Amino acid sequence: MFQSNKEYNNFLIQSGVHTFLQETPNNLLENQENQSKSQEKIDVKKIDEITVIDDLIPIITNHESALKNNAKKMVLYNGNLNSNLMIIGEAPGQEEDEQGIPFVGRAGQLLNKMLLAINVDRKDVYVTNVVPWRPPQNRTPTDQEILEFLPFLQKQIEIINPKFLYLLGTTAAKAILSTPLSLGKLRGKWYEYNTPNLGSPINVLVSYHPAFLLRSPNYKKEAWSDLKMLQKKLNEY
Ligand code: URA
Repeated sequence: MFQSNKEYNNFLIQSGVHTFLQETPNNLLENQENQSKSQEKIDVKKIDEITVIDDLIPIITNHESALKNNAKKMVLYNGNLNSNLMIIGEAPGQEEDEQGIPFVGRAGQLLNKMLLAINVDRKDVYVTNVVPWRPPQNRTPTDQEILEFLPFLQKQIEIINPKFLYLLGTTAAKAILSTPLSLGKLRGKWYEYNTPNLGSPINVLVSYHPAFLLRSPNYKKEAWSDLKMLQKKLNEY
């Protein structure tokens, strides 16, 4: 009846056989209706497959967020991608927003000095924030915004896989340790952070944000004690 395999293949395709010979039930109507939803799913799947920061950058850049509306530049990270130490701040401020680099303003300069005091060069550390866009008027990111960007932060931690996380301020502590407790209660102790994709837990220390230390220098003594704890662990490693 058919002159060639090609004709037979065309007949099968035209009969629609390829749409029902599938392992999972196929609801064509639903698939059409959910086309935009499945587009979102593709992005989520892509993030699972990512193993390098460079592939994460376009995904975060394209992520639609209200925070983008008032910000100038996305601020993702700077420093050493192979570092044992990852520092997580809150969100970019004005200078970070202008330069697209985290911790370059006054708080960043204090951070550099704090690190140098324990013999750590800022260039050797991976530095990032909970939120990559500057919130309007430098306000604290809302819980909703923290949750919105948490998958991207978790992905960065999984890719960098540092030995130590140093969390600066309550926003970073909230995001990573899932706790509303104050810095006074959280600091001075080691915690562990883990996800199903990490080989082993990461040691976590929480301390005061350098911007807070600039406003309240009487907390510098505790911040110094936290830095010494970090230095001890880094030296043991
Ligand atoms: N404060 C932060 O939390 N992050 C920055 O990058 C700058 C200031």
